[in-house]
Amino acid sequence: MSEIKKVGVLGCGLMGSGIAEICAKAGYKTTVREVSDEFVKKGRAAIEKSLGRAVEKGKLDADERDQILERISMTTSLSDLKHVNIVIEAVVEDLDMKREMFGELDRVCPQSTIFSSNTSSLTITDMAAATSRPDRMVGLHFFNPVPVMKLVEVVRTIATSQETFDKAMAFAGSLGKEAVACKDNSGFIVNRLLVPYMLDSIRAVESGVGSLTDIDKAMQLGCGYPMGPFVLADFVGLDTLLRIGEIMFDEYRETRFAPPPLLRRMVSAGFHGRKTGRGFYDYSGEQPVPAV
Ligand code: 3HC
Repeated sequence: MSEIKKVGVLGCGLMGSGIAEICAKAGYKTTVREVSDEFVKKGRAAIEKSLGRAVEKGKLDADERDQILERISMTTSLSDLKHVNIVIEAVVEDLDMKREMFGELDRVCPQSTIFSSNTSSLTITDMAAATSRPDRMVGLHFFNPVPVMKLVEVVRTIATSQETFDKAMAFAGSLGKEAVACKDNSGFIVNRLLVPYMLDSIRAVESGVGSLTDIDKAMQLGCGYPMGPFVLADFVGLDTLLRIGEIMFDEYRETRFAPPPLLRRMVSAGFHGRKTGRGFYDYSGEQPVPAV
């Protein structure tokens, strides 16, 4: 298999934009594919904003920022990923959509191209089955905010070859991240433990164990977590949390993965967390205030 020099990223939302940024920062020519010109524009603006913040903080100089941006090209066409050595998929958690994309890329990319997914709860095997290269498919699961969080879960399926897995581990290291090896079970390591914790926190507030702010304060100060569970849920996105919970419950049929009613109601009401200005907290003022 050839060396990794060019990276393709599918999706330029919260995760995809961060992934594209760190790949270009590590020196890889990075092609990012979004579905429309509007999303291309938004995605590029997110990367520019994040790099701009690093320049303002003195962590990056302006020349470096410009070079990083030059290494990123944006497209709406999947066939523009035909020259990349690795694809990292970071679109919404929709298995059919992911399978369709990988199926099409399988016809476009050379056999040596490694396919990977940043899925948070679907399995890599289910996506690999839509391609003719299950041995060259892995999971590369990043954490939000991607430029800051040090971890990547590298997921090996029962069909992944040793060579592909080794390359994926080395690639994660080349991005300045620490890699851990995971089996291809829904949620891998982190979400398998983190998602029930967030869902259980919602059940705790539903049953009156404590107020929202007290539960957040308790977990932050009592356990030294950087954020309490509700601040974190708002940060991840409540629509995303609900979707992950549904997929994991479907996989394991264990109640700890079942999304609680309050989460469903909040998503139905359009309260999706920080990105919509309201979730468990209301973010419209200077300081977040509890909204539940
Ligand atoms: N992009 C780039 N850099 C960012 C950033 C962003 N979106 N947000 C914060 N940063 C940087 C800041 O610039 C700052 O850098 P510096 O220390 O070099 O100046 C550093 O991160 C710390 O930021 P702040 O001082 O503004 O704020 P905090 O100290 O509160 O840290 C945080 C923010 C890093 C987000 C911290 O609160 C944290 O670690 N929270 C937990 C995040 C977490 O658990 N993420 C995992 C979510 S689960 C997931 O992603 C899996 C998925 O499948 C659901």
